[in-house]
Amino acid sequence: MNRKSFYVTTPIYYVNDAPHIGHAYTTILADVLARYHRLLGVPTRFLTGSDEHGQKVQRAAEKAGVTPQAHADRTVVHFLDLWRKLGVTNDDFIRTTEPRHVQSVQKILAGLYERGEIYRAEYDGWYCVPCERFFMEKDAQDLKCPEYGRTLEKLTESNYFFRMGKYQEWLVEYIHDHPKFIQPDFRRNETLGFLQKKLNDLCISRSKKRLSWGIELPFDRDYVTYVWFDALVNYISAIGYPGDPGMFARWWPASYHLIGKDILTTHTVYWPVMLKAMNLPMPETVFAHGWWLLGDSKMSKSAGNVVNPMDMAEKYGVDAFRYFLMAEMVLGQDASFSEDAFVRRYNADLANDLGNLLSRVMKIVASNCGGILPAPGPEGEPEQVLREAAIGAAGAMERSIEAMRLDQGLGAVAGVAREANRYLEKRQPWTLAKEKRADELNTVLYTAAETLRIVSGLLYPVMPGKMLELREVLGMGAREPAIADLKVWGLLKPGTAAGAMRILFPKVLPKAETDVPAPAAAAPKKAPGPAVPGVIEYGDFAKVQLKTARVLAAEKVEGADKLLKLQIEVGAEKRQIVAGIAQFYKPEELIGRTIVIVANLKPAVIRGVESNGMLLAAAVGKDLRIVMVDGEVPSGAAIR
Ligand code: MSP
Repeated sequence: MNRKSFYVTTPIYYVNDAPHIGHAYTTILADVLARYHRLLGVPTRFLTGSDEHGQKVQRAAEKAGVTPQAHADRTVVHFLDLWRKLGVTNDDFIRTTEPRHVQSVQKILAGLYERGEIYRAEYDGWYCVPCERFFMEKDAQDLKCPEYGRTLEKLTESNYFFRMGKYQEWLVEYIHDHPKFIQPDFRRNETLGFLQKKLNDLCISRSKKRLSWGIELPFDRDYVTYVWFDALVNYISAIGYPGDPGMFARWWPASYHLIGKDILTTHTVYWPVMLKAMNLPMPETVFAHGWWLLGDSKMSKSAGNVVNPMDMAEKYGVDAFRYFLMAEMVLGQDASFSEDAFVRRYNADLANDLGNLLSRVMKIVASNCGGILPAPGPEGEPEQVLREAAIGAAGAMERSIEAMRLDQGLGAVAGVAREANRYLEKRQPWTLAKEKRADELNTVLYTAAETLRIVSGLLYPVMPGKMLELREVLGMGAREPAIADLKVWGLLKPGTAAGAMRILFPKVLPKAETDVPAPAAAAPKKAPGPAVPGVIEYGDFAKVQLKTARVLAAEKVEGADKLLKLQIEVGAEKRQIVAGIAQFYKPEELIGRTIVIVANLKPAVIRGVESNGMLLAAAVGKDLRIVMVDGEVPSGAAIR
């Protein structure tokens, strides 16, 4: 898509607590999109900030024995520090306590009140005095507070209401007519489902008798503004609405509001209706991502299972952490965080594939070419294949950004690094060097280095620090790449002096291995012979038919929490197998993957379900990892 400008926002975070991995995720995602668009040469604005009013902050401040402002001032620093640490390049950081925001909210409220979009009415509700909250009758069984079980009091008070209900029909139509407005599609359906019920007017005031920490209503000093009505305005107050029409016109409508799935209704019902009432255009897309879970559970401070992003970045490096978050989560779905999964991906994609590729190539450039990048000789087929793969990855990345499937784009780029390593295995530059076949050697080194130039450019928005280092090793200096250059082959200049070699991603020992004592010295090799116990003849092995299989569908076996039932395709044949992997894989993670099965195992019935074959998996401590096949391999292929 050709954009004239790109304006991306994150939610503004509550300052009642320290930042966690969910906050880091959205902010890094916004940063990657912003960096990518800047490299495309599109004028870009990236906004994040803090939500500082409301009951949560007031309560946290009371607990800490300070004023809400002092508490916000103290806590916001954690966010600012984290964004600096994580290399986040936001153009602005808005705090809702700043005068520019307060003035904007008050002007908007005054305008809506004048035009009759806000009215005063009596409000009847069930109120919990200690909680300082109203509850709907349906949420409060036996008229007891759902949180503490205390008896609720009936309270009638005057409040101010925003005429949200009258926009219901318009909103439903707008959502139908603009399929990109709410993404992914299933979230759009969720909002449409919500809108099937009658949409009520929104109470936008809170009596100061109960909550004083907020923006005062410009037309009634006894009330402050409901925190969501205040917070959502940040997306426009930060770009000069209504005081600076020039700046506002430059950036509005936003390209993306990135949010978590739990704040869908406020962003896809309240916010569009507020904008409509202000006669402002809608943002292009509200994109709701899933949640980071710890195993299968929700992260929460009270459960003590919150992942601290600062700790991860300290331990493994900022860029590796950014890469993991972006590569691991399928945008829109939940993802499970574990340090083991982190280490596995780090070692596979970064240490083994990318880091190894760089050191293999540049070591030979140093030892055989005096550290100078040689001019390539004539290209053969393997070179052409790799070149096309690298340029293809640039296209894949572009498409994946447009489709908000960053995981797929990163998968394609990681695939090219893997492919380049295979290319080296095939072309054996170390042998070419020994045999002094300079022409061929130069071609191989140049082809691999050029691949690294493209790969590092594509990964730059995700791992800016490490990719600049990589480009320095290639001799390109610490310059940012231009996306256009990543679709063109041959831009590395032969004769360029390579930079000093460094190990970008030192291999990390999996936790399990670091925890156990070092293995005893390896036993001396015994001469092969029939007497060695456990050794089998090739003929024994040949009896086992191992084949590739593609997973077509997967689901849990009812009543058996360890089992998954997979429908697989083995060449032209369709089968069902049952595997004890439910604790290690979610069904949706397996669909489309190519696995390895024992195809000639006698069928068995497991927990009443027929299983026709067995998949192979590696046992790693308590974890289990399925053997999957690399690259495009058809199902039904024999493994020998
Ligand atoms: N202040 C409001 C947003 C106002 S936007 C006008 C708010 N703040 S929050 O700090 O509670 O949450 C901010 C974001 O963090 C939300 O998008 C939420 O979905 C996200 N996350 C909180 N926990 C999360 C995970 N475990 N995983 C991913 N994101 C999650 O809501």
